[in-house]
Amino acid sequence: MNESAPQGHYSVPARQRNVLRLTPRITALVAACALMATGVMPATGRQQTPPPHLRKQGTATQLVVGGKPFLVLGGELGNSSSSSIEYMRPIWPKLVALNLNTVVIPVYWEQIEPTEGRFDFGLVDEMIREARQHKLRLVPLWFASWKNSMSCYAPAWVKTNQQRFPRAEDKAGRGMEILSSFSKENVDADARAFAALMRHLHEFDDDHTVIMVQVENEIGMIPDSRDRSAGANKLFSGPVPTELMSYLERHRDTLIPEFRVVWTDAGLKTRGSWEEIFGPGLQTDEIFMAWHFARYVNRVAELGKAEYKLPMFVNAALTRPGALPGQYPSAGPLPHLMDVWRAGAPQIDFLSPDIYFPNLADWVRKYHRSGNPVFIPEVGLGPVNAVQALYTFGQHDAIGFSPFSIESAVEPTSSLLAASYDVLAQLTPLILEHQGKGEMAGMLPEGAEQRAPQRVLLGGYILDVSYERPPPPSVPGVQTPEALAGGLVIATGPDEFVIGGTGMVITFAATTPGDPIVGILSAYEGRYVNGQWSPGRLLNGDQTNQGRHLRFVPGRFDIQRVKLYRYR
Ligand code: DGJ
Repeated sequence: MNESAPQGHYSVPARQRNVLRLTPRITALVAACALMATGVMPATGRQQTPPPHLRKQGTATQLVVGGKPFLVLGGELGNSSSSSIEYMRPIWPKLVALNLNTVVIPVYWEQIEPTEGRFDFGLVDEMIREARQHKLRLVPLWFASWKNSMSCYAPAWVKTNQQRFPRAEDKAGRGMEILSSFSKENVDADARAFAALMRHLHEFDDDHTVIMVQVENEIGMIPDSRDRSAGANKLFSGPVPTELMSYLERHRDTLIPEFRVVWTDAGLKTRGSWEEIFGPGLQTDEIFMAWHFARYVNRVAELGKAEYKLPMFVNAALTRPGALPGQYPSAGPLPHLMDVWRAGAPQIDFLSPDIYFPNLADWVRKYHRSGNPVFIPEVGLGPVNAVQALYTFGQHDAIGFSPFSIESAVEPTSSLLAASYDVLAQLTPLILEHQGKGEMAGMLPEGAEQRAPQRVLLGGYILDVSYERPPPPSVPGVQTPEALAGGLVIATGPDEFVIGGTGMVITFAATTPGDPIVGILSAYEGRYVNGQWSPGRLLNGDQTNQGRHLRFVPGRFDIQRVKLYRYR
């Protein structure tokens, strides 16, 4: 904290301002002692456990927090909420009531560095303190050079000095409110601020409340397909950098098919200009921009990681079908550009989609390719999030799920999400144990009708899942949405499944040799308490249609554990 940092940008009470005058390390120490004295902070300081990091388990990538794998049951705050401590005050308890364990939270370059070189982390520290008090973890979003394609969160000293901090230009040479990704001044200024943030987190965040960081937000070019400044034009007519070409050659056989087809159609050349390698057309503008955005972000992440090596990711605004580069925020970490981003930004650990379209499963599938771990930092807020979350963890070994503008959740979204996150919290140890081994699946109605039955092959069985008719209101006067059905299934042992979800009827058939007919030996509902199964009712008779199927009552989120047997 710099003494002469301008005051009054946000409402830090005077009392806390005094605390902020201490050095971060002393502040952290004082805060840690205070929290330990109240018993709020877990006794796991940096000395005991390594910082949050990623590790592989089978085909899955897990986020390790406090030495143990962790699932992010998250929610992302609306853009402006975390700019005010006062505004946030009533929100924290609401987030706890939703059963979140993590808040995805914007941090703003303009507030952190209101004057060049003078950093003020008071707001960040306060968010960390509040999160600790509420036993929540944080995933900060670095709103800096770009937020939804624009540069609205750049500090005033950047915005008002176009000479030093150039902008992308349109064909007429006019600047856009988009910092140019071709400027060394731009990237250096952003990276310096980000490095300062990460250095501060390293010093202040002793108990690892912050578990990952998103670098920038929804990078993209719009309304033009590329920067037309003189510097960009010069690079565009020059050769495709060797780093990109050698990545493409090394990964030739595993490139994302929709990207590979562009290179193939242009003749699979290995040397040449952008248009020679990828053909003339807007797709080449987009690939060119994606490379330069990725290089910029890589530099920012690199300097940040040099200070504090947390997992880092970027997010993408998705495209409408048929839209052309320039008509949507182009060149972000979109599915068809994943290879370019991976080649250009090796410091970025994974690429994430922000899903505001109804076909969530299609998008998640697209991001679960080439070893990219699935983390959904944003999904349009609504009742259906409750089943989307179960599906995403069950089907895609996800690190986390997080509806956007979580503080605006109202009924029935809030009750449904809280119930779904409760199920996920109970199942977390099992999910983590079975990730990456082909022992889990997710169920979610897909297609226009949202009712088509689904077939799951797991643990030597076929599970035929049908989704139920509209349920009765789960909250008086509020109809649960028709599409609200789905869940996840874990093959926990021979002939045994644990299933969580709602609105499903599941029948079983065998895929392995032996007696052909499958019966239900036992089906219990129950809860996991500290990872231990605590059975409730034994569901025979009407609840399983006399042993013919499992049923998950619509409007409720339940866990059932079933044992199967075979007969002739
Ligand atoms: C996606 C962005 O990443 C968010 O910051 C926010 O602007 C939402 N869109 C609004 O829907």
